[in-house]
Amino acid sequence: MLEKIQEVLNSLSDLKASNAQELEAIRIKYLSKKGIINDLMSEFRNVAADQKREVGMKINELKTAVQDKINGLKQSVSTQEADQSDLDLTRTPYPIRLGTRHPISLVRNEIIDIFSRLGFSIADGPEVEDDWHVFSSLNFAPDHPARDMQDTFFVEQQPDIVLRTHTSSVQSRVMETTEPPIRVICPGRVYRNEAISARAHCFFHQIEGLYIDKDVSFTDLKQVLLTFAREMFGADTKIRLRPSYFPFTEPSAEMDISCNICGGTGCGFCKHTGWVEILGCGMVDPNVLEANGIDSNVYKGYAFGLGVERITNLKYQVSDLRLFSENDVRFLDEFTAAH
Ligand code: PHE
Repeated sequence: MLEKIQEVLNSLSDLKASNAQELEAIRIKYLSKKGIINDLMSEFRNVAADQKREVGMKINELKTAVQDKINGLKQSVSTQEADQSDLDLTRTPYPIRLGTRHPISLVRNEIIDIFSRLGFSIADGPEVEDDWHVFSSLNFAPDHPARDMQDTFFVEQQPDIVLRTHTSSVQSRVMETTEPPIRVICPGRVYRNEAISARAHCFFHQIEGLYIDKDVSFTDLKQVLLTFAREMFGADTKIRLRPSYFPFTEPSAEMDISCNICGGTGCGFCKHTGWVEILGCGMVDPNVLEANGIDSNVYKGYAFGLGVERITNLKYQVSDLRLFSENDVRFLDEFTAAH
């Protein structure tokens, strides 16, 4: 009799039920009046008195095992059935909440679009750069203050490796690998060791422009920038160029546009001047052409570098730079309509 009970016990592990009916059939087979356990109970009456204790314990063990098995099967059947009943392909789906493009990406794409239409292609370069591409090849003197620890993040233990402080490094990379004519824009992230505030951040985005050909003049530069400003901010936008200094351009200028928020009459945004600075530019210094393997007797060029955050601030009237990197959805949601 003990063996028989053991056999039933062993067979339990093979039991399977994929729905409620199969489960009920198992219950009937084992636990109903005419089920296996009741049969064993009737046999139990004939067991010799000295074995009753052992056999009784074994039957109890079987009963518990059967009950446990059925409970286990019950659970898996009910989750399976719940899964199946959830699968209603005709049901209206939950709305999927789409993210929105980041304002910096929106504006960057718009700028890329404008320059693509003017014939510029896109070039890319590394954010972790060597001193040569960020500074030396761009005519920075060895003791130029921009190399100072205050502005530049150096990569530890490697004095020659920095996080690029401007996208002008890509100018140099393009010149050393490309035969003129060159007409590229280089969008990318740049890093400066600045205290974070509403007006400064330790990283931001620039778009560099570089044009090199045999006959390039400052007028060409001015016309391209004017076209850009009008495409970006509207046909009545004005520009003005102020003389400036960059080691890699000569002559150099900074460009302001008429404040598109007050229309040039003066507001808090343009500090009541009616003008906002959006980029630096100039004619590529012959030293830079030569340092990058381009014959400065044959070729000339212009370059410009604009700040994407600055243009986004103007376009969408954002007054705190920190909003761009905090990923607060209440801020990002405001750009849904801009898509
Ligand atoms: N690299 C300069 C900056 O970061 C901008 C610039 C680019 C100026 C190209 C002139 C020409 O401020």
